[in-house]
Amino acid sequence: MLKMAVLVSGGGTNLQAIIDGINQGTITNAKIEVVISNNANAYALERAKKHGIEAKCVSPKNFADREAFNQALLETIQSYGVDLVVLAGCLVVIPKCMVDAYPNKIINIHPALIPSFCGTGYYGLKVHEGVLARGVKVTGATVHFVDAGTDTGPIILQKAVEVQQGDTPEVLQRRVMEQAEWIIMPKAIDLIANGKVEVVDGLVKIKE
Ligand code: GRF
Repeated sequence: MLKMAVLVSGGGTNLQAIIDGINQGTITNAKIEVVISNNANAYALERAKKHGIEAKCVSPKNFADREAFNQALLETIQSYGVDLVVLAGCLVVIPKCMVDAYPNKIINIHPALIPSFCGTGYYGLKVHEGVLARGVKVTGATVHFVDAGTDTGPIILQKAVEVQQGDTPEVLQRRVMEQAEWIIMPKAIDLIANGKVEVVDGLVKIKE
């Protein structure tokens, strides 16, 4: 059984998709041990509690400096003995100590087709604003392993979504969630939980 910590910062719709996937059996061999938010008011924490999942807040505000916060976050995750760390709308920049402690064991969902509209500064609605400003006709979402860079780790799954005339960043964000994020995040977890994902020379191979 793959034990997971899910890290969140906001609404937690991707967390909900994971919970639903486990309950409905589209994700097998996986269990959420803990949901951790940097933001005490994140609705994602309520979603976890509603489903009887342990919910914790580890906020930078409660630590003297970033180093102390990073260490506390790592120790909290380690205390649950998890095999996989899932970043589901987590706005915390993952520190190097965590990447080193969990090599190819941290996954993130990015709301665009990496390597487009990713990297520093591309988070939340800014991604969709960038997509609309460039006028691309196709966008989507990407699940990838987290390495020391920003959105640079091995890509696990991607799914394309059409941009439509008249889209606002908010409308496009919702479509990308519905048509891509809530599908490929649970799928990636199921593949990992069932031993189907391997990283070879920095690239993901999905075993049949
Ligand atoms: C999603 O668009 C995700 O791709 C991005 O942040 C948003 C989180 O949404 N990283 P939610 O908290 O899962 O509803």
